[in-house]
Amino acid sequence: MSALSTATLKVWRFDPKVDSEPYHQSYQVPVTKGMTVLQGLFYVTDRLDGSLAYRSCCRAGVCGSCAMYINGAYRLACETQIGWFPDGQITIGPLPRLRVIKDLVVDLDPFFAKYEQIKPYLINNSQPPGKERYQSPEDRRKLNEMIDCILCASCYSSCPTVWMSEEKDGYLGPAALTKAWRFIADSRDQGAKERMEVIASENGLWRCHTAFNCVEACPKHINPTEAIQNLKKKAILGKLGIW
Ligand code: SF4
Ligand code: F3S
Repeated sequence: MSALSTATLKVWRFDPKVDSEPYHQSYQVPVTKGMTVLQGLFYVTDRLDGSLAYRSCCRAGVCGSCAMYINGAYRLACETQIGWFPDGQITIGPLPRLRVIKDLVVDLDPFFAKYEQIKPYLINNSQPPGKERYQSPEDRRKLNEMIDCILCASCYSSCPTVWMSEEKDGYLGPAALTKAWRFIADSRDQGAKERMEVIASENGLWRCHTAFNCVEACPKHINPTEAIQNLKKKAILGKLGIW
């Protein structure tokens, strides 16, 4: 049983249509065993204040929609238990540096526009050998970590290069580049050359300065920096005509 009986959720509020500047609003919520921050937010909107805006969907750490900045770290609200913070003080903000639509909801259009650019699907125009294209367990293991990406945009929000070029045609960012490597590293994919035209362009991988913020931010323990380094090696070998 959690030692806490109540917690204070101090939530960042901002509605650009009516507020001149952001402010924090505190809510007292009763705490039950294993209760998550997302459940705390549900309590707020169900019982205390229906005007609070946030995103959520699966409640199981799979959809990526409830990524927020909770007590100074990027976290999924559905996987963060209130009981982890013994003083019961939880400060909740939107993903930093992204345009706020309302309260905890940020504009993810630029994030997904960039994601789309790297062609995030298997490219292989050859006739499949049977019903499906097989892959050895060893080749499949190469994709293990990257396949866990839930597109939560935490890495994107944490990246200093993104902060300088958040617009849709700006730096692609760690999530899109990691997904690009996920497909290029896939033994069944044949789209490396066409993807590389985008990835190695002006707003692509060379704008990553190995800041590593993305590694620290990822709630799924993915290493976007390593994926980007692999892409850089691939781009150089391509220039040398080695692949
Ligand atoms: Fe989220 Fe990690 Fe995917 Fe980035 S790499 S979008 S932080 S799951
Ligand atoms: Fe940004 Fe990660 Fe590179 S934080 S600069 S994408 S190492």
